[in-house]
Amino acid sequence: MEFDFFVSQHLYFGPGKLSRLPDLAGRYGRNLLLITGAGSFVNGPHWEPLQKGFDAAEIVVYTAQIQGEPGPDDIDEIVKRYKGRPVDVVAAVGGGSVLDAGKAVSAMLTREGSVTGFLEGVGTRTHDGRKVPFIAVPTTAGTGSEATKNAVISRTGETGFKKSLRHDNFMPDAALVDPELALGCPADITAACGMDALTQLLESLVSTKASPMTDALCTSGLQGFGTALQRCVLQDPEDLDGRSCLAYGAYLSGVTLANAGLGVVHGFASVIGGIKGMPHGKVCGTLLAAATRENITALMAQDPGHPALEKYARAGWILAGRTKEKDWASGCSLLMDLLDEWTNCFDMPKLGAFGITLAHIGPIADAAGQKNNPVHLSGNAMKKILEKRL
Ligand SMILES: [Fe+2]
Repeated sequence: MEFDFFVSQHLYFGPGKLSRLPDLAGRYGRNLLLITGAGSFVNGPHWEPLQKGFDAAEIVVYTAQIQGEPGPDDIDEIVKRYKGRPVDVVAAVGGGSVLDAGKAVSAMLTREGSVTGFLEGVGTRTHDGRKVPFIAVPTTAGTGSEATKNAVISRTGETGFKKSLRHDNFMPDAALVDPELALGCPADITAACGMDALTQLLESLVSTKASPMTDALCTSGLQGFGTALQRCVLQDPEDLDGRSCLAYGAYLSGVTLANAGLGVVHGFASVIGGIKGMPHGKVCGTLLAAATRENITALMAQDPGHPALEKYARAGWILAGRTKEKDWASGCSLLMDLLDEWTNCFDMPKLGAFGITLAHIGPIADAAGQKNNPVHLSGNAMKKILEKRL
């Protein structure tokens, strides 16, 4: 057994924990750069009490907003605006895109030049890991960015990319996970974010880099996740127990992806997000069931005793709320059927809705990475996944 393991230094989890942010920020200094989304948080019920908290703690708050998934220009502009000011700590309150933006800004405030130069597969510069301390406060249960060491930066278009700024030090110094912040989140966003977290838990569970640590955390994150997602999407967006379960699973999905890596669904997401700008959660949500089916089919054909099949089966039993039964094959079937059902009942959009056509299938299948996927899928299997969701 051999593995490395990284996790954020502090996690504050539970309803109402947002009120801890002023004190937490004050540990790093009096000057806070607060990054939020383009309106929903600052217009919501949590903003005013938080401002009072900052005043009481005598924190000077500079603000910046991010709309959509961050591009290099967004990061460069915020860094340019605040470089030279006494920023002691950066905090980001928002969805995965806002957290990634905050993470990148905290890393780039210490460096000269554009963030593009430091992106994996795009730039040629190496970041030394020095940054301004960073606190991540997710308002959706999805990417797990509050627990990861990379920030995803995108540029869309035919020459577009979706690449990471990554360093072990970029793990947030603190994650403050308050499930109340997701109450009332619209069904389509809850579904897309939840399916992203579910994809991350499943892909890191069966990853070639998985360890007993990540296996245990994936299993814990999957517990109750499916039923909580169904309740919050289909029945009651104000279900706090459900929101807590999703927030917990999403946080753990970040921990496990940072330590075990991901599979073919995220390989596709990296390419599709760059070309067509389809939101990350929707790419993962629409492809997860089809990709899992192809993975299981290929594993059964190549190596029916492969340990990833036992893990898929275990995931099926956990998500269905059943104890272990019969053989692996029945657990795998259960998982594939559940994922198909959720793809339909959560109304995951088809790829075609975002302008992807039959002509894109070949190039996307060729460009998508399969790093850490438990089995190598053939070109035909890769295309089959995309065609099924076209
Ligand atoms: Fe993801």
